[in-house]
Amino acid sequence: MEEGSTRLGGVSWEAYATLTLRERGAYFTEEGRPYHVLIAQQFDRSGLDAIGALATRIRRIAKTDSGMAFLQGLLFHKRAMLYFTQPSSRTFLSFCAACQILGIKIGEVRDTATSSEFKGESKEDSVRTFSSYFDLIIMRSQMGGLAERMAWVLSHSERPIPVINAGSGKDQHPTQALLDIYTLQRSFEERGGIDGKTIVFVGDLLRGRTVRSLSWLLTNYQGVRQVFAAPPPLQIGDDLLALLDRAGVEYRLTEDFKGAIPEADAIYMTRIQDEWDSDAKESRKHDTEAYHFTAADLAQLKSDSVIMHPLPRREEIAVDVDQDPRAVYWRQMRNGMWVRAALIATIFQREAAIRAYAEENGIVV
Ligand code: CP
Repeated sequence: MEEGSTRLGGVSWEAYATLTLRERGAYFTEEGRPYHVLIAQQFDRSGLDAIGALATRIRRIAKTDSGMAFLQGLLFHKRAMLYFTQPSSRTFLSFCAACQILGIKIGEVRDTATSSEFKGESKEDSVRTFSSYFDLIIMRSQMGGLAERMAWVLSHSERPIPVINAGSGKDQHPTQALLDIYTLQRSFEERGGIDGKTIVFVGDLLRGRTVRSLSWLLTNYQGVRQVFAAPPPLQIGDDLLALLDRAGVEYRLTEDFKGAIPEADAIYMTRIQDEWDSDAKESRKHDTEAYHFTAADLAQLKSDSVIMHPLPRREEIAVDVDQDPRAVYWRQMRNGMWVRAALIATIFQREAAIRAYAEENGIVV
């Protein structure tokens, strides 16, 4: 693949907009590797395995000073723009850290009040401006589908560069889902992997983009059961269920979270996403206490299950649960740095160099 090439450059926006999510994925990939990273539907099982293995290699290489020096030499000539106009701590910081691990210099816009969008510049012109100075755009926005649109705009410009979606509206958070899959891969390493497991999603499933992206990625595994535990007004959307139906996935919806705990191999907790409320008191109408995980619930959980959360949390996981070895959400968060480094290294075709270094240094993955 030549840097800067992308198949999105060969399709009109009108034609692209009629494609299914799975069909769109083909437009973000070049020679079997991601170029743009925009939606969960662009990844298949072999892609997930490859990113997981590369993340583990990078994680192990980074344990030594010489390994860090090697990693930082890989992309020292690249610059990345972090365009985060919606609040973020861990996605923003883990992308910063991932870039630093690979030697990439970074720039950032975190508030359009400090950029020329404040003066009326369009988002299209803004990203074209970024592409004049940077080699990669990593963007978070509260507008669903914006990253796809910006990737298309850049692909039709004289300087196409890759775009990574770091969270868009209520629809997609593909890199969070990748780090969630990596966490599940690591958690079930000694238990036959992710195939055949039961994953219980809990909380605000209607507006939680992490759940939507992860639920889809899990369709790449055999026999995974998905349980959606939420108050009815916050239950998972019909559009996602239609995708699961078409993929032949076994799932069920329930209001009885506590009753689902014993069957879970992984519990995926989420907070109430009240930033999407249309009026300030909307979320307070829902009684969500029955969807909190407390220390007392640990007794109902299988000894080899895991508790996950994309974070930030509020009261949905009691702080005294953190000490339990099955609570993996802090490790999950750190995994984001390794997975994002692996993803960027893949986009810029550095997988072979990393694999060769790992083999030369006895790092077997
Ligand atoms: N999980 C996640 O997206 O966290 P931030 O909003 O802090 O980036």
